[in-house]
Amino acid sequence: MDAKAWEKIDGLIDRDRGKTIRDRFAEDPDRARKFSIDAAGWHLDYSKNRIDGEMMNALVKLAEKSGLKEEIEKMFTGKKINETEKRAVLHTALRNLDPGATIKVDGKDVMPGVRRVLAAMGDFSDAVRRGEWRGFTGRRIKYVVNIGIGGSDLGPVMANLALKPYAKRNMKFFFVSNVDSTHLAETLREVKAAETLFIVASKTFTTQETMSNAEAAKEWLVEKLGDKKAVAKHFVAVSTAKDEVAAFGIDTKNMFGFWDWVGGRYSLPSAIGLSLMIAIGRANYKRMLKGYWKMDRHFRTASFKRNMPVVLALLGILYANGYGAESYAVLPYDQYLARFPAYLQQMDMESNGKCVAKDGSSVEYTTGPIVWGEPGTNGQHSFYQLIHQGTHLIPCDFIGCCRTHNPIGDLHDKLTANLFAQTEALAFGKTAEECRKEGVPEELVPFKTFEGDKPTNTLLCDELTPETLGALVALYEHKVFTQGVIWNIYSFDQWGVQLGKVLAKGVLGDLTAKKASGRHDASTNDLIARYRKANGRPA
Ligand code: F6P
Repeated sequence: MDAKAWEKIDGLIDRDRGKTIRDRFAEDPDRARKFSIDAAGWHLDYSKNRIDGEMMNALVKLAEKSGLKEEIEKMFTGKKINETEKRAVLHTALRNLDPGATIKVDGKDVMPGVRRVLAAMGDFSDAVRRGEWRGFTGRRIKYVVNIGIGGSDLGPVMANLALKPYAKRNMKFFFVSNVDSTHLAETLREVKAAETLFIVASKTFTTQETMSNAEAAKEWLVEKLGDKKAVAKHFVAVSTAKDEVAAFGIDTKNMFGFWDWVGGRYSLPSAIGLSLMIAIGRANYKRMLKGYWKMDRHFRTASFKRNMPVVLALLGILYANGYGAESYAVLPYDQYLARFPAYLQQMDMESNGKCVAKDGSSVEYTTGPIVWGEPGTNGQHSFYQLIHQGTHLIPCDFIGCCRTHNPIGDLHDKLTANLFAQTEALAFGKTAEECRKEGVPEELVPFKTFEGDKPTNTLLCDELTPETLGALVALYEHKVFTQGVIWNIYSFDQWGVQLGKVLAKGVLGDLTAKKASGRHDASTNDLIARYRKANGRPA
């Protein structure tokens, strides 16, 4: 991070110590207008933050000093900014709907391939939805099971729920990710083999969880339908790895490809979204891409001061690095967005959970925060107490929609009232004086006082649609990118997940071998011994 730019921010934090968000609103009642941005169907109100015009200018300076403008251009134009894996980062190409667009990687335009796969996905999902693609015994496909994990699961899971109002209701969609056999077993209990399509979604087609579940599903299907040839009609693949797909036994004619420049956690708008496209149809899927694309263009062209992803990123940095906030909560007030926090966890934490700067040195500041959240109002009756009166500072993003897809009485008004009221309570709190005025007995005043001054952002759209969902995902993608640039870390690799994967192979050997090797530490050896004993295996 640029030290001089940060010094200025630190100075302003010091200058304003003791000044609350309540004070700031009293000083400047025009804050809501000044500190809000509209883009791609979303309204961001960031006025309930510990900021003023000067602080925003200082934060924007930090972004400018980081070379963000140049980095954005490098990303959009296919430069290999994922340097540790020597790859371009081009998820934005997947939703570039400009028919004349060309984006080159290693001198080759990637756009024809993007359009070709999108068209193939469209044809396939039309065929499944219309009942033209049938199972081995001639039955219509009624069940779709996506087998994948991480980026090959969380995006489809999140979006399938988010866009349920647009989905074909006479089909059922399942997502198997965990290598826990219960996940697959419980899913298989819900489907009929002759009417089930399995989508094996894996960028590498080598991931232990996915390949184990896919093999088990294949065995189950062959056993149920009594013929190996059935696999061709019930399994398709989404991957970058043609040879592995063929080795698994899926005809590569039924493989939907993508490319090494699509990171797993950014892959929802690639062929990884196939299950979603089958659910909502190609036209709605395209509407989602359009929403992504709108936010992409906003991010690429808007000034940093009026740039929604940049502003969200800078506010996150203010609290993480200036106030020591270790986490932030994402609180969707829309049941359809129930899986959005889980989706964001991978996007943000796998991207910016890094302690090494781009030059290989250790970073001297906090980087990626812990992301968590649950849909409102459930969270209010669970962990909000800590946000209101605990000792941790937890900035929150509240996400809401002005209209619901399911109007029932005044439920939506109540939901939204809770959203707005929470941001009000968090920002303004309740003083001891106010408590006394309400007649709170003196001995209870300390407990009933709310400090307030808790920062929140509010994101509002008219309605959750394919467009607004796409724009929301792109908003957070670019926020995470911006923070990575400012923190000077590589956001597009994930070396940290490797060690556990490698060790698991060794441990698996010890759980299943005739005799355990005893070559682990004392704790791990003991756990292995207990497991072996419980399963009747010799020590
Ligand atoms: O957890 C590590 C990871 O590589 C993620 O980045 C990725 O989304 C996930 O595994 C699944 O990988 P694949 O799509 O290759 O099966």
